[in-house]
Amino acid sequence: MALPIFTERLVLRPYERGDLDQLYAVLYSDEDAMRLLGGPRDLSGTRFALERSMTQQELAGFSFWPVFERESGLLIGEAGLFPLSPDGPDVALGYAFGGPYWGRGYATEASRAVIAEAFGALGMERLVAITREANLGSRRVLTKLGFQVEGVRHVWGAEQLFFVLERDWLTQPG
Ligand SMILES: CC(C)(COP(=O)(O)OP(=O)(O)OC[C@H]1O[C@@H](n2cnc3c(N)ncnc32)[C@H](O)[C@@H]1OP(=O)(O)O)[C@@H](O)C(=O)NCCC(=O)NCCS
Repeated sequence: MALPIFTERLVLRPYERGDLDQLYAVLYSDEDAMRLLGGPRDLSGTRFALERSMTQQELAGFSFWPVFERESGLLIGEAGLFPLSPDGPDVALGYAFGGPYWGRGYATEASRAVIAEAFGALGMERLVAITREANLGSRRVLTKLGFQVEGVRHVWGAEQLFFVLERDWLTQPG
């Protein structure tokens, strides 16, 4: 599979500079959505994150990707892959959606497509994910996807649950 990725209800594609205003309005300015992700960003902080994803995409062929709702055409959040640290081998799954779009299974649906891309076209052997212990929704998403907890790690200034998913996910039922 190559980008754009179509799922039943969503589309994921690489970022474009023109996504800035929508990304800011729906996600990066949303206090609830950004609470456990370092707090909301202003427009220039959002631009920095978007440019970082575009650079990452150019360098590695993966990054966070904006997620669009097919029915409305609206940008509703982002999901994708990022290196856990600049020098380590681990690539992490990440996702975040604007508050009005929670509770519809979108994080799980987008993540399944991202994982299929990671283990398929991108040829990765394993994925990791981190989340705060308090982030029960995110923990549930990772568990539904088949991730296993492998302890706690100090990442980005906080204790985070560390999850792992192996490539044999491709052959698991469900
Ligand atoms: C976490 C987040 C991505 C989940 O997105 P979503 O589209 O609502 O997720 P899904 O609908 O696919 O699945 C959520 C699951 O968690 C469950 N859940 C949600 N909040 C929960 C809570 N407070 N306690 C327990 N379970 C919870 C839901 O019931 C659902 O499980 P189910 O399908 O078994 O009913 C979304 O809330 C979000 O964007 N949060 C802000 C950003 C963020 O925290 N990103 C993750 C960083 S690690």
